[in-house]
Amino acid sequence: MNYVLLCVSLAAHSILHAASDVQKQVVNTAWWPPGTEKKEESVGIISHGFVFMTGMMELNATFNATAQAELSDIRDIAKAGGSSLENLVDCLVNAPSGSAAKVRAAFLAALPDNVQPALTVVELNGEYGSYFPVSATCVASLPPTGAEYPRKELHVQGARGVAAGGLLHIETLGNISESLGAMGTLIRTAGGRGLADLADCTAFVRDIEDARMVRQAIHETCEGAPPVLTLVRAGLEDAHSTVALRCVASVPAGPGMHEKLERRYDTVETGRFAFVSGQYARASNATDAFASLGAQLAHVGLNLSDVVNCLFFMKNASKVDDLFSGFYEVFNKEHPPPPARNELEAASDCSNCTVVAKCIAAFPAVKVGVMI
Ligand SMILES: *[C@@H]1O[C@H](CO)[C@@H](O)[C@H](O)[C@H]1NC(C)=O
Ligand SMILES: *[C@@H]1O[C@H](CO)[C@@H](O)[C@H](O)[C@H]1NC(C)=O
Ligand SMILES: *[C@@H]1O[C@H](CO)[C@@H](O)[C@H](O)[C@H]1NC(C)=O
Ligand SMILES: *[C@@H]1O[C@H](CO)[C@@H](O)[C@H](O)[C@H]1NC(C)=O
Ligand SMILES: *[C@@H]1O[C@H](CO)[C@@H](O)[C@H](O)[C@H]1NC(C)=O
Ligand SMILES: *[C@@H]1O[C@H](CO)[C@@H](O)[C@H](O)[C@H]1NC(C)=O
Ligand SMILES: *[C@@H]1O[C@H](CO)[C@@H](O)[C@H](O)[C@H]1NC(C)=O
Repeated sequence: MNYVLLCVSLAAHSILHAASDVQKQVVNTAWWPPGTEKKEESVGIISHGFVFMTGMMELNATFNATAQAELSDIRDIAKAGGSSLENLVDCLVNAPSGSAAKVRAAFLAALPDNVQPALTVVELNGEYGSYFPVSATCVASLPPTGAEYPRKELHVQGARGVAAGGLLHIETLGNISESLGAMGTLIRTAGGRGLADLADCTAFVRDIEDARMVRQAIHETCEGAPPVLTLVRAGLEDAHSTVALRCVASVPAGPGMHEKLERRYDTVETGRFAFVSGQYARASNATDAFASLGAQLAHVGLNLSDVVNCLFFMKNASKVDDLFSGFYEVFNKEHPPPPARNELEAASDCSNCTVVAKCIAAFPAVKVGVMI
C-alpha cells in the first residue's frame, strides 16, 4: 500500500475529500439488471478507480455499425460505473482474418472525437467461433480524485498509451525489440522509470514458433524485473509485424504517488492490483487453471473472490460451454460476485492446454478515515 501512504503524507488534505476507494463493486445496466451477475459474469466491475468491462459483441452488416453498437454498450457500462467513453483507457478487439486494419478504423471512427484508448486489434475468433466476428472488451478510468493527474493519452514512435489512476495502458505493434524499446520510452514519458515499471503484458504473436524468443526478449530486456506474461497466437494488422503487445505499467498517479511493484511467483502487485500471468488449463472447464490462479493469489494474501477481470483464450471455442460451467461453479457459486470477462479463441505455447486464463485481482480498499 505504498501509494496510499505517500498520498497521506503528501496530499492528506485532498485525500480527506476524495471519494472512498472501492475494491470490487458490481455494475449493472438497464439491459443487465441487478441479479444477472448471480447467473452470468458481471457486466462491469468498479475497482480502485477503474471500470473493468465484460466483452461486448454485436452483429451488423458493416464494421462501422458493429463498432458503433459495441461502443454504445460499452458507454452504458462505463456510465453505470461512473465513467464514460471519453475515459476509456484500454480496449482489446478481435477481428476476422485479414480485417484488423478495417476494424481498427471502424472503432476509431466510432469513438468520440479526440479520444483513443490503448487499442489492441488482433485477428482471432470470439467465444462463438466466427459467428460473432468482432467483440470488444474495455477498461475505463474514473475521474481523478485528490491530487491525481487527469487521464492523459501518450504517443511515441511505435507505442501508444493512456495514463490514468497510476496505471499506463499500452499498445504496440512491431517486432519485439522495437516494441520494448518504444514501450520503455512511453513509460518514461508518463513519469515512470522505464521497463522496470511494467506489471503485465499480453503478447499476441503471429507465429507461435516465436513464443520462446518473445518470452526470452521480455525477460532479458526487463533485466530480472519482468512483467507477468500471457502469450497466444493471433493474426496481426500489419504484415511486417511479428508481435502485438498489450501491457500495463505502474506510473505516478499524481505528485509523489508511484506504487512500487512487487514480484512473487506468477504475480506482480502494484499496491492496489495483483496481475497474474495466464494460467493454463488442461480441463476444458478450466477448473485446474482456476485452482492454480487461486494458489497464485494466496501468495499475495488474496483469493478468487478478489478477481475483478479475466480474459480467457480457448484453444477451441466449440468448448465454450464447458468453460462457462467451470466459471459458474468457481466464481458464481463459490467466490461471488464473478469478475467481468471475455473469451477469445487462440492457441497458446502450451499445445496440450485447452484454456489460458489471464486474470487481475484487487487488494482490499483502503479505509482512508482509519489511516488518517
Ligand atoms: C445495424 O445498425 C443499424 C444502424 O446503426 C441499426 O439500425 C440496425 O438495427 C443494426 N442491425 C442489427 C442487426 O443490429
Ligand atoms: C466507416 O466510417 C468511416 C469514418 O466515418 C468512413 O470513412 C468509412 O467510409 C465508413 N465505412 C463504411 C463501409 O461505411
Ligand atoms: C525491428 O524493427 C525495426 C524498425 O522497423 C528495425 O529497424 C529492426 O531491424 C527490426 N529488428 C528485427 C530483429 O527485425
Ligand atoms: C476471500 O476474499 C474475500 C473478499 O476479499 C474475503 O471476504 C474472504 O474472507 C476471503 N476468504 C478467505 C477464505 O480468505
Ligand atoms: C474445434 O473443434 C471442432 C469440433 O471438434 C472442430 O471441427 C474444429 O476444427 C476445431 N477448431 C479449431 C480451431 O481447432
Ligand atoms: C471440470 O472438469 C473436470 C475434468 O474433466 C471434472 O473432473 C470436474 O468435475 C469438472 N468440474 C466442473 C465444476 O464442471
Ligand atoms: C501433450 O500430450 C501428449 C499426449 O497426451 C503427451 O505425449 C505430451 O507429452 C504432452 N506434452 C506436454 C508438453 O505436456
